[in-house]
Amino acid sequence: MTTVTVEASKKYNVLIGAGLLEKAGELAAKVITPCTAAVVTDDTVDALYFETLRKSLEKTGYTVVKFTIPHGEMSKNTENYVAILNFLAESHLTRSDVIFALGGGVVGDLAGFASASFLRGVRLVQIPTTLLSAVDSSVGGKTAINLDSGKNLAGAFYQPDLVVCDTNCLETLPKEQISNGMAEVIKYGFIRDGEFLDILQQGSPDWENVIARCVSIKRDIVNADEFDTGERQLLNFGHTLAHAVEKCSNYEIYHGAAVAVGMVMISRACAKKGICGEEILNRVIELNKLYGLPAAAEFTAEELFNAVLSDKKRSGGKINLVVPEKMGKCVLMSLDMASAKELLALGV
Ligand SMILES: NC(=O)c1ccc[n+]([C@@H]2O[C@H](COP(=O)([O-])OP(=O)(O)OC[C@H]3O[C@@H](n4cnc5c(N)ncnc54)[C@H](O)[C@@H]3O)[C@@H](O)[C@H]2O)c1
Repeated sequence: MTTVTVEASKKYNVLIGAGLLEKAGELAAKVITPCTAAVVTDDTVDALYFETLRKSLEKTGYTVVKFTIPHGEMSKNTENYVAILNFLAESHLTRSDVIFALGGGVVGDLAGFASASFLRGVRLVQIPTTLLSAVDSSVGGKTAINLDSGKNLAGAFYQPDLVVCDTNCLETLPKEQISNGMAEVIKYGFIRDGEFLDILQQGSPDWENVIARCVSIKRDIVNADEFDTGERQLLNFGHTLAHAVEKCSNYEIYHGAAVAVGMVMISRACAKKGICGEEILNRVIELNKLYGLPAAAEFTAEELFNAVLSDKKRSGGKINLVVPEKMGKCVLMSLDMASAKELLALGV
């Protein structure tokens, strides 16, 4: 088992290893005295993993109650959020109790926001079961739900008390969901860790090491900028154009696939402009291919830029773009709209 310690507004451990779900009760009990544990999960993960978690929690002395949502992004909505809050109230959960988020990023974000707001904050254990949630959404404290006007528009910064990541859960994950998570894994390499890119290039990733490396990079960035006012924006490498690609496709293109395309486009633009070398672009394309991710999407620069304009990362007529400088190093570049449009057009 590998332990990564996050020291943000709350200090907590991220435990990563094979078979940890069976030990989740005893691992949690080291941080949270057994109490009522409200497990939030989705129907797919419920069928696969809830029983293992329930047994482990009950064996350690927790009383378990459960709330299950349908799987998928559509469930990250206000109705389920309110339904969870009502369920917690009806289950007489108190501030001495704990919520377990068992699932991918949808469950983690929704249960996380419920934890942040129910009784003004109850404790939270994240148990990520997708690669994306293991390397990204379960760590760092961003929680959110979607509103009719857009994704992640209501939420809170709320750090968990513990993250337990059982790498065995990835064995049941569909191939496209592994690719989805791999886009974020590749992203970490380009932001901070060129050597990691060499390891990824060899294929057959060792999940415990890969997840620990990604979580360590995210930990360093979150420790430095928990509330996303500067350095944390580096985690958006490839994401400005990815959001545009997702939007233009009516969200039919997966987030990971869109991030993969976004990384290619910004790297191509930067290579053409001389901000980075061609080798960065070639490496992004190679790694995308190796992990089943695309390198292009069929939208024009005009379509993408119109979608970028409505992206939430705009501030005061300027846009912050994350650009690669060299292998394993990205920097933030603040551009006015005309310059951003000119640069992005080079990448499409
Ligand atoms: N909070 C953050 O910092 C942050 C960061 C990145 C993404 N996100 C959010 O995360 C969400 C996406 O997360 P996701 O990609 O994990 O999607 P997800 O939670 O929808 O999971 C994807 C699918 O995999 C299924 N699944 C989960 N674990 C499984 C397993 N072990 N075996 C088989 N099937 C399994 C789920 O039921 C679901 O159908 C988005 O809502 C995004 O906004 C949040």
